[in-house]
Formats: sequence, C-alpha cells, structure tokens
Amino acid sequence: MAKKLRVGVLASGGGTNLQTIIDNCASGKLDAEVVVVISDVQCGALERARKAGIAAEHIDRRDKERFPTREEFDRAVLACLRRQEAELVCLAGYLRIMTPELVEAYEGRMINIHPALLPSFGGKGMVGHHVHQAVLDYGCKVSGATVHFVTLGTDEGPIILQRPVPVEEGDTPETLAARILPHEHELYSEAIQLFAEGRLKIEGRRVRILPRKA
Ligand code: GRF
Repeated sequence: MAKKLRVGVLASGGGTNLQTIIDNCASGKLDAEVVVVISDVQCGALERARKAGIAAEHIDRRDKERFPTREEFDRAVLACLRRQEAELVCLAGYLRIMTPELVEAYEGRMINIHPALLPSFGGKGMVGHHVHQAVLDYGCKVSGATVHFVTLGTDEGPIILQRPVPVEEGDTPETLAARILPHEHELYSEAIQLFAEGRLKIEGRRVRILPRKA
C-alpha cells in the first residue's frame, strides 16, 4: 500500500477542483488524502470538505483584530497546514496573494491550477471569468489549463502540466470556462499523483517528469 501523501487545499470558491481531488483520493486513483481545506471566506469548498469529513478551516480575511496584516493572516494559514502536517499544498481557486513566509515555507511543495495556458493570461487580476474574457477578446483559437509550482510571483512558477482546449465559435467566458474546467480537474489530479510518486524534478524554470520507478 503506497504511503498516502498528506494534501492541504486552499480555496475560495465553489470547490469543484477540490471535489475531484477528494473523490480521486477516495477511489484510490490518487495516493493521497486531503487532510485540511482552508479558506479565507465561507465558500462551497469548505462545505464540500465538511461533507467529506475533512477538517475545514475558515480563516476570516475580514477579521482585522486577529489578522491586522497579510503576514499575520498567512501565519495562521501556515500554522494550520503544519498542524495537519500537510506535505503538499494545492491552491484550488484560492483568491489571496500570499506573502513570502507562506510561499517559502512550501517552496517546491505548493502547486496551483490556472484556467489558461501560462504564461499567457496569467498574473494579477487574471482570475476566473476575467481570464476567459481576455482570451476571447484577444481572439485566441486555443486556451487550456496549466498546473504549476507556486513562487512569489503570481502564476509565474515552473510549469508541471498543460493541456490545450479549443475555443469554439460563439464562445462566451462561461462556455469556455465550462469546457476547460473538466480538463483542469483531470490535469490537477495527474499532477498531484506525479508529485506523490516523487516524479517531479524542478530544474530552473523547467519541471522534468521522471519515468516511473521500476
Ligand atoms: C476554476 O476555473 C479554477 O481554475 C479557478 O476557479 C475556477 C473554479 O474553481 N481558479 P473551483 O470550481 O472552485 O475549483
């Protein structure tokens, strides 16, 4: 029985990426288990965690008494991840920009899913609907999904996996997002399993995917 990788998920939205990870852990498709879900807002992702019997931590971004600074907010997030001994942190629709202390604590062990082919249509403000609107406004014929390691810059870390998804005639941001989402779900689990198998090797900007161990 392969040792289960302990995964912490940070999310701020509906949580369909989280749900796929939970389901794939439960089915044995992933040699992993989600040990905690943390959100800065009450959201669908926390509800999904509670339903699955997973620790669901709402660290309220509006609580300026407890978290007067972003650094103190991130220290609370970090303490929660460490309490649960998370070995990999997955951002799944997490909308906060993280401070260096949190990102550096999980250097090489924190990944993110982005609903476009980075480095295009990434960076500040490129979240959710805005990503797909920008792709359509530019007239792209192909978009897609990217899983990458998280670094201090936004959406700039070494790329683990990418998958192209066609833009169709008449697409709206909603129809494009809906076409990409299932590919995000598949790609994210593929990346988590590669990490669990120790097959991801960061070499500068590149990530080498090592062959399966015999
Ligand atoms: C997804 O497109 C994800 O890439 C983006 O937010 C959308 C919804 O994610 N960050 P989820 O359903 O909350 O996982």
